[in-house]
Amino acid sequence: MMTPIQTGVGNVISHLVFGGHFNHNDPRFKIMMDAFESFLHHASTGSLVSFMPLLRFVPGDFFGIKNITKKIQLVKDFVNELIEEHVQKFDEGNIEDFIDAFISEMNKQNNGENTIFTKEYLTAIIMDLFIAGTETTSTTVTWASFYLATRPDIQSRIFQEIKENVGSERLPSMQDKQSLVYTEAFIMEVLRMSNIVIFSVPHAPVTDVWIRGFHIPKGMQIFPDISSVLSDPAVWGDPENFRPERFVSEEGTLLKPDEFIPFFTGRRNCLGESLARMELFLFISALVQRFELMPPEGETLDIKDVDGIFGGTHAPKPFYIRAISRHANEMI
Ligand code: HEM
Repeated sequence: MMTPIQTGVGNVISHLVFGGHFNHNDPRFKIMMDAFESFLHHASTGSLVSFMPLLRFVPGDFFGIKNITKKIQLVKDFVNELIEEHVQKFDEGNIEDFIDAFISEMNKQNNGENTIFTKEYLTAIIMDLFIAGTETTSTTVTWASFYLATRPDIQSRIFQEIKENVGSERLPSMQDKQSLVYTEAFIMEVLRMSNIVIFSVPHAPVTDVWIRGFHIPKGMQIFPDISSVLSDPAVWGDPENFRPERFVSEEGTLLKPDEFIPFFTGRRNCLGESLARMELFLFISALVQRFELMPPEGETLDIKDVDGIFGGTHAPKPFYIRAISRHANEMI
């Protein structure tokens, strides 16, 4: 089932890529999100097949790979339709989205050799942006909802900070980020604790390399273990505790330790980090401004109940929470 969080996050990428957005119930959007979710949870980094690619040749479809390939093909067909629509309507004087900008470059390089500005590349890039940019961010917002609902002390501190610095008349904007230090620290702690891309993205060296005495042959697939850094007791002291304060200095400013690497590090780190951090700030601050989150009536919610589905992303198991409108509360 698709959640409003997935629709919201998916629509940010949709706007950037093709300048439109989907309604929550649009069947094409459901097909896309379902395909990406299946891909991330069963076929990408972290899945058994990813570690042992030969498994995909096991007769039948035990690992669901054929099914996922079919789903991904449906999405590719849909993306190709979108590209064709853009090609038909293309107007060099009116570049409205990523597809338009790419077509413009494609036209300029039309006769060039070895260009990456082809329709095949465009389809692949769009698939990458959707796959890397939707499930990751929506899973992080889902983890944030879990921590808000289970930690009323933290939630009320965030709410107070938003009330004092933004009020309730308008939604928080990026200009408020400087003043919402605790809110931002909370988001960083969610990213650290939920550690959603546990094994990052596989990389391979282009030549033989030696690191601290270990030989890594050319072409060897490497899965960086981000958890070993995000939960290293030598760095965090008490990595098992959910404590946003660890990112706030005594002077009340935001701390950014080098070991905070949920988007990994180096030249090929996450392309979408700044977009993701904007989305997380805007979604989560607006959520707390408008709603109080809590476990279902008469129930408790614990990390043991939800942790965790491990695939391309480390997602919580499905859980229920209540979202009580703060506005309605004020009216009572
Ligand atoms: C909370 C949200 C996100 C997290 C935690 C996250 C995390 C990561 C990580 C760990 C990597 C691997 C980096 C590496 O191997 O060095 C990665 C790669 C990537 N991410 Fe993200 N990501 C998030 C959101 C996004 C968004 C919103 C986009 C797109 C707009 C995006 C696009 C990409 C792309 C294209 C790559 C591959 C980069 C490359 O290989 O050069 N990510 N991400």
